[in-house]
Amino acid sequence: MIYLAGGTSFLGKRVVEKLLSSGKDIKCLFRSEAAKHKLVLLREKNKEKLDMAGGNLYSADSLIYGLKGIDMAIYMVRLEYVDFVKNFLDAAGKCGLKRVVFISSTTALLPTENKFKKLKLEAEDLIKRSGLIYTILRPTMIYGGCGDNNFYKMLNFIKNKGFFVIFGSGKNLIQPVHVDDVAGAILSVLDNPAAFNKTYEICGEGALEYDEMLKIVRKKLKRNFRIIKLPIGASKFAVNIYKKIVKKSDFNSDQIERMKIDKAYSYSEAQKDFGFNPIAFEDGIEKEIREAGF
Ligand SMILES: NC(=O)c1ccc[n+]([C@@H]2O[C@H](COP(=O)([O-])OP(=O)(O)OC[C@H]3O[C@@H](n4cnc5c(N)ncnc54)[C@H](OP(=O)(O)O)[C@@H]3O)[C@@H](O)[C@H]2O)c1
Repeated sequence: MIYLAGGTSFLGKRVVEKLLSSGKDIKCLFRSEAAKHKLVLLREKNKEKLDMAGGNLYSADSLIYGLKGIDMAIYMVRLEYVDFVKNFLDAAGKCGLKRVVFISSTTALLPTENKFKKLKLEAEDLIKRSGLIYTILRPTMIYGGCGDNNFYKMLNFIKNKGFFVIFGSGKNLIQPVHVDDVAGAILSVLDNPAAFNKTYEICGEGALEYDEMLKIVRKKLKRNFRIIKLPIGASKFAVNIYKKIVKKSDFNSDQIERMKIDKAYSYSEAQKDFGFNPIAFEDGIEKEIREAGF
C-alpha cells in the first residue's frame, strides 16, 4: 500500500487517479472533512479501493496511525513548511517507513536568494539526511486541467477580459510542465532503484520566451486578445497599490521581480534514469483548453 500526503492537492488528484488506474492500493492523508469529501468523490469516480487516514502535518503523532504498516509514500505538500517535513520524517522513523518520493520545486534552484528557496533547500537537506530511500522531484510551474492555479487562471482572465498583462520584457524563459507528466514521473520513480537517493528537475519539453508562450496560447485559444507589457518597476509599484486596495491579492512585488529570471532547466537525468519524456507546451495547453472547455 502507498501512503499519500497531499493527495487532495491539484497534483495529488492526478497522482491518485494514475495510481488507482494502475491497480495500486493507496491510503491518503486528510486533515478536514472537505478534504475527506474530495477523496470520497475520487474513490467513487475511479470505482477502486482507496483508504483514508485522518491526521495533520502539524503533529507527528497524528500521522502514526495512518503510516503504520506502510513501506512506501509520496509527499506532495509544499516543502517550505519545514516543520511539516520534520513531523513527517519523525512519524516515518517511528513507523519504519522505508521509501518516500518528495515533491519540491525548481524554486530551490533560483539564482537569487529568497525565503522559499531557503526553506525548500532546508527541507531537502533534512530529507537527504533522514535515512529514508528518497527521491526528490523538482517540477517547474505545473499546468493542465481545471485545478491548475497558473494557466487555468490565465485562460479565464483572457476569456473574461480580452487582454493579458506581461510584467517585464516578455523575453524571460519559462518551461512549464504538464500535470500528467509530473504524475507520470512520480509513478516511474516509485520503485525504480535507478532513482533512489537522487534529485531530479522535472520540466516541460523546451523553454519558451514568455512572449512566445502567449502567442501559442493565442493560437490554441483561437482568440486574438491584446497583450499589454508593463515594465518591472512600474509593475511593482502598481501591485503594491493594488495590494493596498484589494487586500487578498495573489501577487506581490517579489513575484514580479522573479519574473525577470529565466527559468529553463534540463531533464536529461530524468530521461536517462526513468525515461521522462514530457509533452511540448503547444500540445499540453491545447489539452488544457479542450479539457477545461475554454
Ligand atoms: N502547483 C505548482 O505549479 C507546483 C510547481 C512546482 C512544485 N509544486 C509542488 O507540488 C506539490 C503539490 O502542489 P499543489 O500546487 O498541487 O498543492 P496544493 O493544491 O497547494 O495542495 C496542498 C496540499 O497540501 C495539503 N496540506 C496543507 N497543509 C496540510 C496539513 N497541515 N496537513 C496535511 N495536509 C496539508 C493540502 O490538504 P487540503 O486538501 O486539506 O488543503 C493539499 O493536499 C507541492 O509539493 C508543491 O510544492 C507545485
